[in-house]
Amino acid sequence: TWTTEAFVEEAIRELRGKVGDKRVLLALSGGVDSSTLAFLMHRAIGDNLTCMFIDQGFMRKYEPERLVKLFEEQFHIPVQYVNARERFLAKLEGITDPEEKRKIIGHEFIQVFEEESNRLGPFDYLAQGTLYPDVIESADTNVDPQTGERVAVKIKSHHNVGGLPKDLRFKLVEPLRKLFKDEVRKVGRSIGLPEEIVRRHPFPGPGLAIRIIGEVTSERLRILRDADFVVRDEINKQGIYHDFWQAFAVLLPVRSVGVMGDQRTYAHPVVLRFVSSEDGMTADWSRVPYDLLETISNRIVNEVKGVNRVVYDITSKPPGTIEWE
Ligand code: XMP
Repeated sequence: TWTTEAFVEEAIRELRGKVGDKRVLLALSGGVDSSTLAFLMHRAIGDNLTCMFIDQGFMRKYEPERLVKLFEEQFHIPVQYVNARERFLAKLEGITDPEEKRKIIGHEFIQVFEEESNRLGPFDYLAQGTLYPDVIESADTNVDPQTGERVAVKIKSHHNVGGLPKDLRFKLVEPLRKLFKDEVRKVGRSIGLPEEIVRRHPFPGPGLAIRIIGEVTSERLRILRDADFVVRDEINKQGIYHDFWQAFAVLLPVRSVGVMGDQRTYAHPVVLRFVSSEDGMTADWSRVPYDLLETISNRIVNEVKGVNRVVYDITSKPPGTIEWE
């Protein structure tokens, strides 16, 4: 029978055999796949592993700090933290089209990845958190005709941008390639990843940038990050985080009139988007208790400067998508 212990042992043995004393680069994302991968790789090859974390500036409140802290302090795995926040923001200036946003973020990610891997490298291998379902429909990798090894032509970063530059084609190590998502979660849990990472809701690669409708600015990021924090804080407090496939906030660029104290306000609305789903392909809007909506709405309007109205999205998928962009 399959056990996490047996898997971890076997994976480590295999990795040592394959990689030997060569250098490996790994891009952490904060999700369960790359976090489990990092732990395994580090157990197998220690200092020959370089974990890189590119902070685009679109993650949720406290997430980047917590991730780096977890790896460095709890796992004793050093992380090369790359603060690329300003770069991504500058590239998005004036951009409002959703597809253009995704493209720009994806290209900038490859750009930063290339620069940083040149700076920290050279590396012999790229470790990727490819899972079994990805292997089956593996359009993002080629096989080297000489060695028969899988070679990355694209970085698995959820950005779905075109290929890597030719001189940046890495040989791959993919120790999770035989696992399904629920098995990765089991392995992750068994090595001590916090539940916060193991059962994190899906989070898009471009992050909060595609939950800010219209132009992304640092002020709007601040607003959405704080509103999103309230949503997560409340559903965590009430112990219902795992009742949803995703539960998040979206910031709209329009403004509406409100009143606070004896002051007229003219500020942004926030949309709450809570859905249930099996796989993200279809989804149903969640019938949440009115009391929960009330608490979240009150907290957001009171705690988040720049928001004076909260609305709830009652559109299923189809015809709506889960994300607004
Ligand atoms: P939609 O909005 O298409 O989302 O109903 C379906 C699922 O995919 C996630 N999603 C993304 N994930 N990069 C990602 O890694 C993206 O650009 C992206 N867009 C949507 C979304 O959060 C949902 O779980």
